[in-house]
Amino acid sequence: MGGKNPYIEETNYTPAAKKYKVTFVKQGKTVEVDPEKIPYGHDGIPGSLLDISQGFHLGLDHACGGVCACSTCHVIVHEGLESCNEATDAELDQLDEAPGVTPKSRLGCQCVPNGEKDLVVEIPDWNKNYAKEADH
Ligand code: FES
Repeated sequence: MGGKNPYIEETNYTPAAKKYKVTFVKQGKTVEVDPEKIPYGHDGIPGSLLDISQGFHLGLDHACGGVCACSTCHVIVHEGLESCNEATDAELDQLDEAPGVTPKSRLGCQCVPNGEKDLVVEIPDWNKNYAKEADH
């Protein structure tokens, strides 16, 4: 899947212009994001946390293919959230469906860091894709 959701407002974001790091705490892995290599995968907004997760095989579930139509890509951005685009109303509506939402919660497919800060991100343990797509 992948692509855009025609039923929601366009998401505004500033693509990263320089390299930065994202630490995925549950995986114990820090990756370096290189703007030259974006998009890493084919789901979510290019340069989003879902895109980065796909590029580094970090296993963030994404039942709708990254078009802001589910809540399985829920992540918690512990550090660096201020360098990310603002959540749209559509994203916030979907986040309402996710368990364990915090003030630092985002949808991984919609959250795009601008590269000005390094990030610390948690993929919650309970982030399970109950409508799992086949590996592709
Ligand atoms: S993958 Fe469905 S909202 Fe992000």
